[in-house]
Amino acid sequence: MLKNDTLDQWDRENFFHPSTHLAQHARGESPNRIVTGASGVHIEDRDGNRLLDAFAGLYCVNVGYGRQEIAEAIAKQAKELAYYHSYVGHGTEASITLARMVLERAPKNMSKVYFGLGGSDANETNVKLVWYYNNILGRPVKKKIVSRWRGYHGSGLMTGSLTGLAAFHNKFDLPLPQVVHTEAPYYYRRPDLAMSEADFTAFCADELEKLIAHEGADTIAAFIGEPVLGTGGIVPPPAGYWAAIQKVLKKHDILLIADEVVTGFGRLGTMFGSDHYGIEADIITIAKGLTSAYAPLSGSIVSNKVWDVLMRGTDENGPIGHGWTYSAHPIGAAAGVANLKLVDSLGLVKNARETGTYFNKAMKEAVGTHPHVGDVRGEGMLCAVEFVEDREKRAFYDPAKKVGPAVTAALLKRGVIGRAMPQGDILGFAPPLCLTRAEADEVAGKTAEAVKEVLG
Ligand SMILES: Cc1ncc(COP(=O)(O)O)c(C=O)c1O
Repeated sequence: MLKNDTLDQWDRENFFHPSTHLAQHARGESPNRIVTGASGVHIEDRDGNRLLDAFAGLYCVNVGYGRQEIAEAIAKQAKELAYYHSYVGHGTEASITLARMVLERAPKNMSKVYFGLGGSDANETNVKLVWYYNNILGRPVKKKIVSRWRGYHGSGLMTGSLTGLAAFHNKFDLPLPQVVHTEAPYYYRRPDLAMSEADFTAFCADELEKLIAHEGADTIAAFIGEPVLGTGGIVPPPAGYWAAIQKVLKKHDILLIADEVVTGFGRLGTMFGSDHYGIEADIITIAKGLTSAYAPLSGSIVSNKVWDVLMRGTDENGPIGHGWTYSAHPIGAAAGVANLKLVDSLGLVKNARETGTYFNKAMKEAVGTHPHVGDVRGEGMLCAVEFVEDREKRAFYDPAKKVGPAVTAALLKRGVIGRAMPQGDILGFAPPLCLTRAEADEVAGKTAEAVKEVLG
């Protein structure tokens, strides 16, 4: 390894980091971390720090770090056949096997899976499929996509538009006009504190109805949502939300895209978030947990209903004009096959449910009564702590005070990685699904110490 100072210099001079304050980084004003190794739920950096990664990278290393079975499957695939494309009917044993394994785990109304590289490109594919679908059905103006404020669906042109967070729009001329946003299913931030959870669910469905009426149902093609809001704050929906939303969508013949990039393959304690909430999607987005990030791979799982129209489309128009060079890349697919086998053999869906429940309870006990903790919420192996200036009045902090980042930094000092969520003073957790109860206790205990240090 290069001497530390050289690597640091090269990093500052050459590397354009995503989601980073570019100027501060280039000038050396903000810390960097050069990660050198990882095992289980811990990562190590070149300075000798060993940190418990309670966000699993970017909620993606679901099976934990250092799994030799996946590394070996990748190496074997690279030696035998590092690449072949999947255009015009080509495939590999790994890509075909993985498609089969995904469909065996997906909700029963699903038909096929298209493989991409990351969550953003998968959602890009989904929007194109929805547009194609409505063109084949002779509905050329039924094209807009409804997303939620605080939804996160990627950071491309279309997917950044679907994302309902200001930081992903500002100065990028987004959102594009084909995207409209509706209320976030965020009960803690309901507009009227007097609303019960049921009232708020009805309010969200009503807001959607109003938006559809305003835009015209014949202009709206699809609704996209994460089963649990992720980057927008880790927010499970209010009771009855998905049933109420699906009722509205059915009434107006609007397709539903379930973005399961975070929730797919076990994070909520069920194979898919759709299973957990009774979501009957027309298309499901997958990525992260598909390979546990051992190699880049995503997917768009298409239902029978959509697939039938896509087939009709190619009968009428010839081969579908969509694909990437790296679609269904064999190395990603080999990683996916080995990863899904591990998810099964290690019982990680069950562990996400059981240890995830334990973790959420431990976090509530550790910080739930603190006067500056307004909400502790979660589902399965997802958990968030939201900080407030005044708990009784639910008065939020001035964002300029950066309370969320300060608590996250205090936690990091104690050897635990959480994530300061980008909008609001929210500390998020999404540990590997193999987390143990002892590790859950450690994260909760150190969070309590960090909260005390920053907020008293
Ligand atoms: C729900 C959801 N969809 C899509 C994406 C985008 O995935 P990627 O960063 O792989 O493009 C993310 C990333 O965090 C996500 O959380």
